[in-house]
Amino acid sequence: DWTTDSFIEDKIKEIKEKVGDRKALCGLSGGVDSSVAAVLMHRAIGDNLTCVFVDHGLLRKDEGDDVERIFRDKFDMNLIRVNAEDRFLSKLKGVTEPERKRKIIGEEFIRVFEEESEKLGKMDFLVQGTIYADVIESGHGNGAATIKSHHNVGGLPEDVDFQEIIEPLRELFKDEVRRIGLELGIDEDLIYRHPFPGPGLGIRVIGEVTKEKCDILREADAIYMEELKKAGLYKEIWQAFATLPDVKTVGVMGDERTYAYLVGIRAVSSSDGMTSDWYKMPYDVLEKISNRIVNEVEGANRVVYDITSKPPGTIEWE
Ligand code: XMP
Repeated sequence: DWTTDSFIEDKIKEIKEKVGDRKALCGLSGGVDSSVAAVLMHRAIGDNLTCVFVDHGLLRKDEGDDVERIFRDKFDMNLIRVNAEDRFLSKLKGVTEPERKRKIIGEEFIRVFEEESEKLGKMDFLVQGTIYADVIESGHGNGAATIKSHHNVGGLPEDVDFQEIIEPLRELFKDEVRRIGLELGIDEDLIYRHPFPGPGLGIRVIGEVTKEKCDILREADAIYMEELKKAGLYKEIWQAFATLPDVKTVGVMGDERTYAYLVGIRAVSSSDGMTSDWYKMPYDVLEKISNRIVNEVEGANRVVYDITSKPPGTIEWE
């Protein structure tokens, strides 16, 4: 008879017995799985857990600050936030091909994580937020991997010095992970956040990635998410996001001609991300989103809604 309470209690006991007073390192991404794994570990071993959060500068609006607020301020955990925006952007300079961008971001991510862990010295355990679906996927091979490399940023680094991997969520389904996260007191907004690709805005800014484009995209995406939540649609959509194609269009604002970026917005229904339908968004919600983005986001002057399903489209544009 599985309850979240008994799982949490049993797991904490199991971790305590296994780890004792030794030290563990956890890579925090801001996603649901690593967040729940980290809080569970913290409940078991407290200050013997150190979390490293690599902020690659390709995150959604306020995401990095939210991670600090939740894990350092609210849960009082040892958290190291590495602000590596400049490093990632300079590596990405001039790069336009999606798979190359993924590779650069994935490799740089591991390098930054390794550098941080080196500073911390040898750890006894490395915490991974692996859930049951990951176990199944790696066992049977992921077909999608041949279409996009799906380099899951936060994947296993090679040069980090530790003795053993610990995976406290290994036997759980996603909805169970969410329930446990809520029971542990993690913010609902984080627990129900739509899936976000490891390379982040690096593959949502189409073509070359620059800080200016990332900033425009972050603002547009934040307005989009805010309106979906206001309309009560956020939770029924599997994944929604804005993208910034490398296209500028002409518009008019008051008496002025504008020449600014086009913003693409996408929302899909899916059960696992392998196939998806485009979401039949009510017109009035689309209208509100479009008006707000064009009026409030400097640098954007036009919005299009993506009506492609998967297949033949993929969910992300790159
Ligand atoms: P696609 O675009 O392949 O996306 O239909 C399916 C799901 O996977 C996510 N995705 C990624 N996740 N690294 C990730 O960790 C990636 O490189 C990556 N590319 C796509 C996408 O957001 C969707 O949920």
